[in-house]
Amino acid sequence: MKIFLDTAEVEDIRYFASIGIIDGVTTNPTLIHKAARPFTDILKEICQLVNGSISAEVSATTKEGMLEEAYYLADISPQITIKLPTTMDGLATCKELSNKGIDVNMTLIFNATQALLAAKAGARYVSPFIGRIDDMGACGMDLIASIISIYDNYEYDTQVLVASVRTVNHVAEAAELGADVATIPPAIMHAMIQHPLTDLGIERFAIDWKKTGQNIIPK
Ligand code: G3P
Repeated sequence: MKIFLDTAEVEDIRYFASIGIIDGVTTNPTLIHKAARPFTDILKEICQLVNGSISAEVSATTKEGMLEEAYYLADISPQITIKLPTTMDGLATCKELSNKGIDVNMTLIFNATQALLAAKAGARYVSPFIGRIDDMGACGMDLIASIISIYDNYEYDTQVLVASVRTVNHVAEAAELGADVATIPPAIMHAMIQHPLTDLGIERFAIDWKKTGQNIIPK
C-alpha cells in the first residue's frame, strides 16, 4: 500500500520524506488554510521534497472554472494530481483532464456509486472519507471494501485512496483490504510506530547489553 501524507505542513513532509516512507502528498483547502501560506509556494516546495503524486484541490464548482484552475495547477509540476469534488461538473472535468493525461483525484466520496462514476470518468484516484462516515455512525471501512470489490469486478484502474484517516486501525484495515493508498495525517504516522512493549524491550535490551561489558565496534 502506498502511503501519502495528508498535510500542507512542509516541515512535516520534509521529516517523513527524509525517512523515505512517503509516496505522495494530499492537500485540501482546510489544510492550506491551516498552513497559512500561499498555495502555489506550498505546492512547489512539496514537489521538491516528495517524488510522487501531490494532490491539489480546485476551488471552482463549474466545469469551466475547474478546468481553468486545473490547468494552472497542473502547470506547476507533472507531479500535481488535480483534486476535484465528486459532482456532475467534477465528473465532466475529470473526463476532460484524464483524456489529456492529467491525473485526477475525485474527492469527498461517500458512497460506492460515486466511486463507480469517478472510475468511468477516468479518475486516477478516488478518495472515500472514511473518518467522516464513521462520525455519522456508519462504517467507513465497509465503503472501502465495496469500492475495491466493484473495481475488481470490472478491472477499473482507478486507485482507492483511503482518506479522512483518524486512527492507526484505519491504516491497518485499509492495508488488510488491499486499498491502493492511505493518506495519513502526520500525527497518525507518529502513532503508527509507537508501541509500549517496543519501548520497554529497548530499555531492557540496553540494560542487559551494558551488563555484557562489550562494545559492538571493538575499541
Ligand atoms: O484527505 C482528506 C482528509 O484530509 C479529510 O480528513 O479528518 O478532515 O475528515 P478529515
